[in-house]
Amino acid sequence: MDKKKFYITTPIYYPSDKLHIGHTYCTVATDAIARYHRLRGEDVMFLTGTDEHGQKIEDKAKEAGVTPKEFVDKIVCGERGVLDLWKLMNISNDRFIRTTDDYHVAAIQKIFKKMYENGDIYKGTYKGKYCKPCESFWTESQLKDGKCPDCGREVQDAEEEAYFFRLSKYADKIQDLLENTDFLQPRSRVNEMVNNFIKPGLEDLCVSRTSFTWGVPVDFDPGHVVYVWVDALSNYITALGYENDKYDDYKKYWPADVHIVGKEIVRFHSIIWPAMLMSLGEPLPKHVFGHGWLLLDGGKMSKSKGNVVDPYILAEHFGVDALRFFLMRTFPFGSDGNFSNELLIQTINTDLANDLGNLVSRTTAMVGKYFGGRLPAGCGATEMEQGAACSARREATIPNGDFLLDPDDPVRYDMDLVLKAAGLRFDYEAAMDAYAPHKALEEVFKVIQRANKYIDENAPWALAKDMEANGKRLAHVMYNLLETTRICAILLIPFMPESMDKLFQQIGACEGCRTWDSAAQWGSLSDTAEPAKGENLFPRVDMEKALQELEEAAEEARKASLPDIELEPQSAEQVDFDTFCKSDFRAVKVKACENVKKSAKLLKFTLDDGTGVDRQILSGIAAWYKPEELVGKTLLAIVNLPPRKMMGQESCGMLISAVHKEKGEEKLNLVMLDDKIPAGAKMC
Ligand code: MSP
Repeated sequence: MDKKKFYITTPIYYPSDKLHIGHTYCTVATDAIARYHRLRGEDVMFLTGTDEHGQKIEDKAKEAGVTPKEFVDKIVCGERGVLDLWKLMNISNDRFIRTTDDYHVAAIQKIFKKMYENGDIYKGTYKGKYCKPCESFWTESQLKDGKCPDCGREVQDAEEEAYFFRLSKYADKIQDLLENTDFLQPRSRVNEMVNNFIKPGLEDLCVSRTSFTWGVPVDFDPGHVVYVWVDALSNYITALGYENDKYDDYKKYWPADVHIVGKEIVRFHSIIWPAMLMSLGEPLPKHVFGHGWLLLDGGKMSKSKGNVVDPYILAEHFGVDALRFFLMRTFPFGSDGNFSNELLIQTINTDLANDLGNLVSRTTAMVGKYFGGRLPAGCGATEMEQGAACSARREATIPNGDFLLDPDDPVRYDMDLVLKAAGLRFDYEAAMDAYAPHKALEEVFKVIQRANKYIDENAPWALAKDMEANGKRLAHVMYNLLETTRICAILLIPFMPESMDKLFQQIGACEGCRTWDSAAQWGSLSDTAEPAKGENLFPRVDMEKALQELEEAAEEARKASLPDIELEPQSAEQVDFDTFCKSDFRAVKVKACENVKKSAKLLKFTLDDGTGVDRQILSGIAAWYKPEELVGKTLLAIVNLPPRKMMGQESCGMLISAVHKEKGEEKLNLVMLDDKIPAGAKMC
């Protein structure tokens, strides 16, 4: 039988700056959903990539003194660039598209021409407002307080000959799509789109520009480049081979099952993109899911505000899986969430170190201690448990665990645990299918917490005191714990793939009992499993120490991102020649140099200035020079400044230095002259 297909995408990223934790959030979420579908045995196509055209990139490249392609290459393929980040974060994309790839560029030209030839693109004059950072056109009525409604920044007047796409023609169809189907999720985003964009009247969209060149050229009208969003949105089909020969999967995977996107680009995906596809006569994606933003101190992260959080630092510090887990567990996927390092550490400590980590280490340690690392045969699932597990499955909910058992009968605990663990996959599945990974994780952790409680309820250490009487019961308790852990671990694979691999080894789970099917089959683990206590998968984090280290790492990264050399801007104020000539610059030779007592900054120089009388100058350069290294040097001094007292000593003149900043740090170098210049020689 053909496997079910599942095509999922992330937005393709602007390589205008390094990616931050917000971008990582979106890609990790998509990766977890893609892995979930693979776990279920589906044929998954997961696409991500980079959106490399547009004026913003052209401007940034100019600023950096490189070509736009060189600029994006560095951010996409360079050290700690986009590709490195996705590798680090264990992102399992099947394909990566760059909109500068030749096959994509050629396909965009064909797509544009197709819409032109069918009458949906026409030539006109563009008058309006343009937000450069967002690369968005706005009409006057769409502005918020005269500013870009997306980012709140200033917009510019723009007027030029341009091509337009007949978006207005599709308004009714789009409204119907949004209001009467489950195309756009979560549902709360529908009103936003309809009320803010469709009801005020959907205007035709400007889809070409002539004021810059870094884009896909309109092949039948040189001078025009295709609007970057038409170029970018089409990536979802060109990456499958639409209008190109590079790939041949369009028939297989299109329409996409879901485009995962951030809330600010829902407009492009739920209005413009379906209209483009309608114009091309192609099927629409099944869903667009608009997730919320990760905020910092309640505001959006942005490079310009200087408040971006570096995913490299966090992953290196806490581990990739812990970071992936935190992002998915903490923030409800459709809403905004406030990121903080404290919250990250708390989540690691509570869920991973305490709940999951402890469950695994206590259980494996006890099997080692009480059974020499191998459970006795026959300790596995009982018939009653298997029957109950089946009913948990059939009803897809957990029936309440009152089995007419004696309140003191410990089997009550078994039944409750078994039912919760065996029913877990169904609640998890419902949450994952509703794009609520946070909810799926919540369900898993309820069961992990239940299992920890089960240890306390059964007090294995007390049972172990009389192995003859209680050995069988104790083995069964251990089995139930391992089996519960196994089920939870399967469902955690999409979120923490590497750690779960290690965990399976620790609990002695064979390949066959790591599968999706086996996650709903209580009793899959062999009753003679051989767990082995291994490395601590999720060590506890010392909050105070970690916060300090993070601060230091962030400071280091900040410094590393500073320009290598920073110079004082040149003075705009002019000095007339006669005034300049009044300054008397002379070569001076250092006869003696010493630190000024009680001053950390000052050095005292005794200088030969050619007059036969020693000159004393004090200079605040002790941070850069040791006195002894300057003796004998020929320096430059201005000698006709009025004498002044510093720390009670007289300074007659000033030594000339060159100053600049290196990686944000002040640097100073005395101007040193050729030693063959005699003391007293005048500079002119
Ligand atoms: N290039 C466009 C997408 C084109 S898709 C055809 C783009 N790129 S982006 O790099 O600016 O953003 C990529 C994704 O990262 C968007 O979905 C955006 O919402 C997401 N995020 C950027 N900052 C974010 C947060 N602080 N929090 C969560 N997601 C954020 O838009």
